[in-house]
Amino acid sequence: MGTSPGKLGEKPASIATRLTLWYALLSIVLIAAAGSVMYWVLVDRLHQKDDQLLAGRIAELRAILQLHPPGSAFFSEEAKREATMLPGIQVRMQDSSGERIFETVGTQPALFDHFPPPSETEHSTDWRAPDGGFYRIMAARIAVGAGYTVQAAMNRSTEEALLAAYRRMLWLAISAALVVAIVAGYLIARREMRPVLRLAALVAELGATDLHRRIGDDDWPSELKPLATNFDQLLARLEDAFARMSQFSADIAHELRTPFHILQGEAELALTRAGSSEAYRACIESAAEEYQRLAAMVDALLFLARAEQPDAQLDWQPLQLDHEIATVCDFYQALADEQAVTLIAAGNGVVRADAALLRRALGNLVANALRHTPSGGRIIVAARQRPDQGAEISVSDTGDGIASDDLAHVFDRFYRADSARSRAKAGTGLGLAIVKFIMELHGGTASIQSELHQGTTVTLTFPA
Ligand SMILES: Nc1ncnc2c1ncn2[C@@H]1O[C@H](COP(=O)(O)OP(=O)(O)OP(=O)(O)O)[C@@H](O)[C@H]1O
Ligand SMILES: [Mg+2]
Repeated sequence: MGTSPGKLGEKPASIATRLTLWYALLSIVLIAAAGSVMYWVLVDRLHQKDDQLLAGRIAELRAILQLHPPGSAFFSEEAKREATMLPGIQVRMQDSSGERIFETVGTQPALFDHFPPPSETEHSTDWRAPDGGFYRIMAARIAVGAGYTVQAAMNRSTEEALLAAYRRMLWLAISAALVVAIVAGYLIARREMRPVLRLAALVAELGATDLHRRIGDDDWPSELKPLATNFDQLLARLEDAFARMSQFSADIAHELRTPFHILQGEAELALTRAGSSEAYRACIESAAEEYQRLAAMVDALLFLARAEQPDAQLDWQPLQLDHEIATVCDFYQALADEQAVTLIAAGNGVVRADAALLRRALGNLVANALRHTPSGGRIIVAARQRPDQGAEISVSDTGDGIASDDLAHVFDRFYRADSARSRAKAGTGLGLAIVKFIMELHGGTASIQSELHQGTTVTLTFPA
């Protein structure tokens, strides 16, 4: 059922646990490496010391051999005397035919049989006797007369016991380090992760009514500071969006109240007066006007709501602007003729845009211009390609114009500059808000210039 990326029931390990494991691993690797290096240095030193002793013994035998030929009484006497001086070292000497010339008493029977083959230089090896004793053996060739081989060996069981104790200590140290690293590491990591839990608790506390709160000022560790700051920015954006939404709902309610009051008042008046059919007719006509306005407002709100959906898809097409503005002007031509206003379409250009949305924006602008331009006036809808391959459409009129105080607000939802004018002439105040929104969807902008009693120009700019 579950399609989570991990395996079913597999929980992601906590940061504290992971940090602990990594540190524990690191510390035992370091201790093991340092311990092993010291161990190998110690082993090497002990071998060197043993080899020096054995080589010294062999050198003495060589010296005796050079002075006294083997077999002579002098030779065996000197050799025996040497042997008593260093009792731990056993020696065997053979001539070139393998005949044993001299051997210290009490030599391990198999000791010299495991002996490395003699060569020109001295060389040595370790050997473990069947009785458990450890030996170091060295062999050398002595080039006196027909040539002899000498083997010398020493018992190094005490050294081996020392090394074994060292190895045990090393294992103990590694195990102890592992336990300490895991326990202490986990406690430390847990302690240092406490701000994360505090942050989570703070965030969990926040509800829709706490959007004004900020958490970034607390003394967060530097790793958490950006998170807290970003979270504050998110809160600020949410607070802003939330405020705008509640403002928008309040505006809608406010806007709906007036037409409903008018409808209600007129209906009650018509009911209380035993009216003529003309009076009823006037009441119904007025109501129909209000209905139309309400329908237009709901239609505009619905459009804004749909276009604001994050998955709203634009139908991008390359559009010939002369064709688009001609279509819009044709639509309003009859109304312009009726008001004795000249409506002119001019210019050309190509733009990638959604045709329906572009026509809706242009339609709103031409409707505004027609509404505010007295007879004899002129409205020009002009398109041009910009040097940067973007495009521009402007709708200018020779009408009433807008006061500079109002100019900054005309793109706001429900804003009407002409509130003092007759209600029949007023729109919903959503037209320019829709125009601005359509331009934002296209990545473009809408701007307005106006001079009171001179005229107004609205410019739509499409990016390249
Ligand atoms: N060409 C214009 N000349 C003078 N005033 C204008 C012009 N265009 C817009 N305005 C002013 O800006 C206000 C806002 O315009 P907008 O199109 O948003 O709303 P509306 O025309 O009143 O309502 P709607 O377009 O929804 O019917 C208008 O009420 C009007 O006062
Ligand atoms: Mg309008």
